[in-house]
Amino acid sequence: MDRYLITGASRGIGRAIAIMLADKDKEVIIHGRDKKALDKTAQLVEKKGSKATKIVADLSNTKGVDYLIDEIGTKSIKAIINNAGITLVKPFEEITLEEWNNIFFINVTASFLLTQKLLPLLRKGSSILNILSTASRKGYTKWSAYCMSKYAMEGFTQSIRGELQPKGIRVINIYPGGTATDIWKDVPGEWDFKSMMKPTVVADAVKFALDNPSDVLIDNLTLQNTAGDQ
Ligand SMILES: NC(=O)c1ccc[n+]([C@@H]2O[C@H](COP(=O)([O-])OP(=O)(O)OC[C@H]3O[C@@H](n4cnc5c(N)ncnc54)[C@H](OP(=O)(O)O)[C@@H]3O)[C@@H](O)[C@H]2O)c1
Repeated sequence: MDRYLITGASRGIGRAIAIMLADKDKEVIIHGRDKKALDKTAQLVEKKGSKATKIVADLSNTKGVDYLIDEIGTKSIKAIINNAGITLVKPFEEITLEEWNNIFFINVTASFLLTQKLLPLLRKGSSILNILSTASRKGYTKWSAYCMSKYAMEGFTQSIRGELQPKGIRVINIYPGGTATDIWKDVPGEWDFKSMMKPTVVADAVKFALDNPSDVLIDNLTLQNTAGDQ
């Protein structure tokens, strides 16, 4: 049975990906911190006939990352989906070192460590899929910490693609524009959710990229809102 790991699957884009990938012959490993919300994702995944394995871990520190890795065990994984992430929007002069370290650990270090330490579980034909952002390639006013973290992941993933190609492991990057999820609750301002894509649109793109034959690489897939990104 193919196993798929999705970090940050308790809500938003991660939950939509988990449901989209769920199928009878698959095990979907769903991760998050919110146990109740993960239970809900598990229910929706199981409804589609998939096995759902829940792992609760805080990815803001090495202890949580190590715990997630231990819980995954030693069976091979078909795809690692690095999705968990947070945002931070404020003038750069006001960003504290604590906030900086926190966003970098969750958005960059955790994905780096998971990718590195789970690599031995990836066989030929498997994939590392990263949910990046249009903010991986464009700076947005007051989004410096978030943009830097996403640019860092851009550098990491573009660099390892060539390292992993000889092993037959694909590195796929998805760059969504504004997507209607709870992440916006932490962003000051009024947001027009109707002009943002739904998490299922991103999940569709993930499934499309993964379902291609393993010798076909969709390397970088950008999804933009026609109304423009905010
Ligand atoms: N929404 C957008 O407009 C947009 C656009 C482009 C890219 N993205 C990217 O898409 C990804 C998912 O975002 P989303 O919009 O779906 O946000 P969301 O609804 O806020 O979901 C974020 C997910 O990350 C998990 N997470 C956050 N902090 C964590 C921590 N310390 N430890 C473990 N898990 C943690 C959350 O789980 P718990 O709360 O259960 O811990 C949740 O499942 C992020 O990488 C984001 O940067 C989003």
